[in-house]
Amino acid sequence: MDALLSRLFSTEEEELYILDCMAYLMVFMAACTFIALLFENVPYGRYSTSKYGLQINVRFAWFVQELPALLLPLCLLLRASSSKTSLLPNQLLIAMYLCHYVQRLVTTIIGKAVSCIYPFLIRGGKPTPLASFALAFVFCSYNGFMQIRYLSHYAEYPTNWVTHPCFLVGSVLWFVGWIMNVQSDHILRNLRKPGETGYKIPKGGMFEYVSGANFLGEITEWAGFALAGHSVHSAAFAIFTTVVLASRAVAHHKWYLAKFEDYPKSRKALIPFLF
Ligand SMILES: NC(=O)c1ccc[n+]([C@@H]2O[C@H](COP(=O)([O-])OP(=O)(O)OC[C@H]3O[C@@H](n4cnc5c(N)ncnc54)[C@H](OP(=O)(O)O)[C@@H]3O)[C@@H](O)[C@H]2O)c1
Repeated sequence: MDALLSRLFSTEEEELYILDCMAYLMVFMAACTFIALLFENVPYGRYSTSKYGLQINVRFAWFVQELPALLLPLCLLLRASSSKTSLLPNQLLIAMYLCHYVQRLVTTIIGKAVSCIYPFLIRGGKPTPLASFALAFVFCSYNGFMQIRYLSHYAEYPTNWVTHPCFLVGSVLWFVGWIMNVQSDHILRNLRKPGETGYKIPKGGMFEYVSGANFLGEITEWAGFALAGHSVHSAAFAIFTTVVLASRAVAHHKWYLAKFEDYPKSRKALIPFLF
């Protein structure tokens, strides 16, 4: 891995410069995505359409598109020189990132201790257009490299950063968001009985307050990670996630209101009581 990295970047300064550029490019892409999403929903799930060409099985798509978000970081941590992984703030931030993607790909259900693979828990999901799958695959690879290479080899934090209010508040936000995301996705997955493909009104957890409870969880999670990580790289990830998922929450909310006459009127799209 080091040999490959040294072929790509002639010096560490150059690699760090490229990592910074990648983060600014992600912010720019978030702005472009924001504009695009004013006109069209990301075409997967309930907005899946054949107009973007070939459609692929949803379980296969989720599994493969998210795999580089875990495999690439693991390769970087295990096979590349990573001079900052002995430092506590870096270790904790890397653990937050990995925790999310390990949970998404390999969920250990507490209690009966059954190991399951997240995508294979999806019930009746709609096929994913190839374009949407390819974009998600590229995003997960790009972001996985950017976050973990920066944290494992370049990020430097002040002494006692882990007791700094930004780190403490960010970590709590990350944890609360992660729990909310996991719980909300669990509620959604269990709305359908095996073989069903239709939609029902989600109930329980944060769905009592917002239509996009799983999205609110993920946005909170990466906003907390950005606060704790205090870097342009973690901020870019949080901004991109917020743009994509806030738009999806608003679209889902409008869709529910149009589809279900008895949809709870007090429920908001993304922010409880406000929006
Ligand atoms: N970080 C990022 O940029 C990013 C981007 C995208 C997604 N994500 C995360 O990935 C996860 C899934 O995202 P998503 O966009 O697929 O979420 P979603 O649209 O809420 O769908 C999640 C799953 O639940 C099913 N479902 C949703 N609402 C339902 C209802 N009312 N009744 C029955 N089934 C329902 C969907 O089936 P159908 O497929 O049939 O609709 C799908 O299998 C979330 O945790 C999200 O935060 C992250």
